[in-house]
Amino acid sequence: MVQLTLPRNSQVTEGKVWPKPEGATNFTEYRIYRWNPDDGRNPRVDTYFVDKDDCGPMVLDGLIYIKNKIDPTLTFRRSCREGICGSCAMNIDGTNTLACTKGTDEVAGDIVKIYPLPHMPVVKDLVPDLTRFYAQHRSIEPWLKTTTPTPEKEWRQSHEDRAKLDGLYECILCACCSTSCPSYWWNGDRYLGPAILLQAYRWLIDSRDEATGERLDDLEDPFRLYRCHTIMNCSQACPKGLNPAKAIAEIKKMLVERRV
Ligand code: SF4
Ligand code: SF4
Ligand code: FES
Repeated sequence: MVQLTLPRNSQVTEGKVWPKPEGATNFTEYRIYRWNPDDGRNPRVDTYFVDKDDCGPMVLDGLIYIKNKIDPTLTFRRSCREGICGSCAMNIDGTNTLACTKGTDEVAGDIVKIYPLPHMPVVKDLVPDLTRFYAQHRSIEPWLKTTTPTPEKEWRQSHEDRAKLDGLYECILCACCSTSCPSYWWNGDRYLGPAILLQAYRWLIDSRDEATGERLDDLEDPFRLYRCHTIMNCSQACPKGLNPAKAIAEIKKMLVERRV
């Protein structure tokens, strides 16, 4: 039977309001989703105050400030701090994005509200479980597949063919797009979602790859590909300015073209 309300143990409750840092006069207020699988309690939203005069300008700077100076139990992922690794993806101010490239001054209103990426299981606090997402990436075999013998030096590619990978190779697999896609929310167990389909297209149009037919066969499925209904949330969400919806449309076009 369809369940229309959240189970009691997943309802988000009011959390702790942490004291303001001593001596500080200029604050940014953060409200952050907290959930610990080990304490048996409901998720909650904690409130923190970050001293603006002692903190960098990005949302990630604020999270690091909180972890270092207020609450070391706050858990989140981050690595590069410059929009390259994709690990700090989270929902900030209602939008999936990267904490390290989102300025606190870009947040509408005075409060920075942060939740984990939506519709994914949570490991702890702001850390989503991306196991399925990575398994889906593995399933499209994201590497060069060839049948001709490997050249002595390198696989060559013209400048024009290389240019076809622009707008695709920049994907950092942050999952902001897939977790903003309604089709992926409801059918993520069978639908590959925009990030993985963009990756699939990256290999389909690589002039050096020799498994195009096989790759298309693998995608021609009512769920793996055709759950995309061109809602476009994915392209609006991408913090790298990529267009996964277009890549998906190109795959559908390739499938039509090989039939005629
Ligand atoms: S265009 Fe397709 S992949 Fe993108 S959000 Fe819509 S349904 Fe999802
Ligand atoms: S397409 Fe954009 S939003 Fe999606 S995983 Fe790649 S970088 Fe992230
Ligand atoms: S920390 Fe690497 S993308 Fe934000």
